[in-house]
Amino acid sequence: MKAVTRRRFLSGAAATAAGVAVGPWVLRAHGQSGPLKVGLVLPYTGVYAVLGESITQGMELVFARENWTVAGRKVEMIKEDDEMKPPVGIRKTEKLIDSDKVDILTGPVHSGILLGMRDKVHSSKTILIVSNAGADDISRAKCSKWIFRTSFSNWQPNWPMGPWVAKNVSKEVFVAAPNYQAGKDQIGAFKESFLATGGKVIGEDYPKLGETDYAPYLTKIKQSGAKAVYAFFSGTDAVGFVKQFDEFGLKQSVKLTGAGFLVEPDVLPAQGKAALGVISGHFYTPLLDNPTNVRFVKEFREKFGGKMPDGFACQGYDTAETIVRAVKATNGNTQDKDKLVAVLEKTEFDSPRGHFRFDPKTHNVIQPYIYVREVREVAGGLNNVPIDKVADVKDPGTGCTLPA
Ligand code: BEZ
Repeated sequence: MKAVTRRRFLSGAAATAAGVAVGPWVLRAHGQSGPLKVGLVLPYTGVYAVLGESITQGMELVFARENWTVAGRKVEMIKEDDEMKPPVGIRKTEKLIDSDKVDILTGPVHSGILLGMRDKVHSSKTILIVSNAGADDISRAKCSKWIFRTSFSNWQPNWPMGPWVAKNVSKEVFVAAPNYQAGKDQIGAFKESFLATGGKVIGEDYPKLGETDYAPYLTKIKQSGAKAVYAFFSGTDAVGFVKQFDEFGLKQSVKLTGAGFLVEPDVLPAQGKAALGVISGHFYTPLLDNPTNVRFVKEFREKFGGKMPDGFACQGYDTAETIVRAVKATNGNTQDKDKLVAVLEKTEFDSPRGHFRFDPKTHNVIQPYIYVREVREVAGGLNNVPIDKVADVKDPGTGCTLPA
């Protein structure tokens, strides 16, 4: 056997750094003792910047509780701004996987970015914990053994709302959402159950994502004679739509309903009284009276200058909680991906939203409840008061056959 000279050793080390195949002992040693690298692909600029911020803060709250150390490994969050642009999100995903060699990837917010990064994540066997983007296909034909979702599928908060709106608000609605995958999925889910319970859609419109002037759309709503609108908008789009809906004078005659993102606490302060009375479906409200949520709201507000946590912060919390529990269960080993997937599938805990668990059929979260909420003035300002709920809401998972 040849002796390993210093030069030979160094050239081997250089090959390792360049990503050339190395013995499993090198990988194992690196995976267990180095930092736990968590890559975040999130919007920190643009229409959904406030969502990216809340998700990050929810994660930070959990990692700070763990003193930024999990199973002896220091947690390193590597944050990348996807700028809400699919090509940028895909490039940042490649950088985090190929250059930073993250142990676990999280994000994104935008459904189009999630669909764009899916094949890279799948082929590189990178564990992705989706912390917002709801693209239905990720729990259906494009599901992957390596992808878990702690947030929601776009179908989940909307499908229970169809029968509820038909029964309690109006059998005729106008629907509106931004013109991209999430808008189509969310309105599609609402329409599916609304039409099946005798509802009629009397008009629909899909403004561009990032629209600032909704006047032409509000004019069409007025002309349609609709008694109710069902809408999905989020971030600055939600602020613009809800405020202009009120300024246009529609609030007096048309009931505004929609997916919960329309009136989350990230946008409520900017919307102000224009949001009063809006009815929406969501898996969370900071008013939930369970011990985990009471503690979460208190600690989040203390840490982030009094800010009220929203559903996005809850998603960040659940993403970090999932990572902490899974990495502890493997004793810090993130190299054995099959083992990590096996423990992730079994991960369950008490979340601010209720009891958290994944559907083993799709790797998507089963929502303990979808709440029907109404924006009301309560102690502490405007908030989403739960007025009804539907239990155990699971994406249908059509076309997903794991392991895929
Ligand atoms: C999405 O693109 O999937 C999405 C964005 C904001 C809120 C909800 C869903």
